[in-house]
Amino acid sequence: MATPHLQGSMGDYAPVVLMPGDPLRAKFIAETYLESPRLVNEVRGMLGYTGTYQGIPVSVQGSGMGMPSIGIYSYELYHFFGVQSILRIGTAGGIDERVKLRDVILGMGACTNSDFARQYRLPGTYAPTASFRLLKAAAEAASAQGLPVHVGNLLSSDTFYDDADSLAEWKRMHVLGIEMEAAALYMNAARAGKEALCICTVSDCPLRQEYTSSDERQTGFTAMMELALETVKRL
Ligand code: HPA
Repeated sequence: MATPHLQGSMGDYAPVVLMPGDPLRAKFIAETYLESPRLVNEVRGMLGYTGTYQGIPVSVQGSGMGMPSIGIYSYELYHFFGVQSILRIGTAGGIDERVKLRDVILGMGACTNSDFARQYRLPGTYAPTASFRLLKAAAEAASAQGLPVHVGNLLSSDTFYDDADSLAEWKRMHVLGIEMEAAALYMNAARAGKEALCICTVSDCPLRQEYTSSDERQTGFTAMMELALETVKRL
């Protein structure tokens, strides 16, 4: 049955879904890496495809930017399309001193300045974490590929343009990078009893005013896509 945001039906998505923010990246991944990719969503231009990677069924679905957007797509995939695991593949701004342009971060945890968790009415603060199974598979795939990765906390921010400019405080806690989706994805996975991991390539280091060119972003993205696909093979 179609949902308000995804036109497919049960069976149209593989148990594992890669989720870039940009729907055109979903198209690129499907066309570059998947065997016999099939378009399964184009509602709102949020492209989704299902195919196989070296024989393993995989879907790729755009998430859009920010927690409300990935919150919608991941909820529908987990609850209405039988999806078990979502691997977000995105970009992040480097925060910690050790994190450099084009590095890859595996988000073991996701701090947030968002109120997304309020809906669960918990008597305390929730700590969104990645699935250990996915994190372990990704760390092993990276090491097999000879790709160094940072593993630790991300900050999922509601704002890209932030009036308070609070990155220095997060840096004191050695948060590795800032992005805008992981915390909501991890909470949706937890509530559904499913699995999620956010893998990010570092597109900029705002505290050092360093930025990658669009070519460098594409190259970094390619390395991350290959890491995500190798991770899927290990699940
Ligand atoms: N802020 C939020 N999200 C991001 C950034 C950033 O600086 N860089 C890449 N994604």
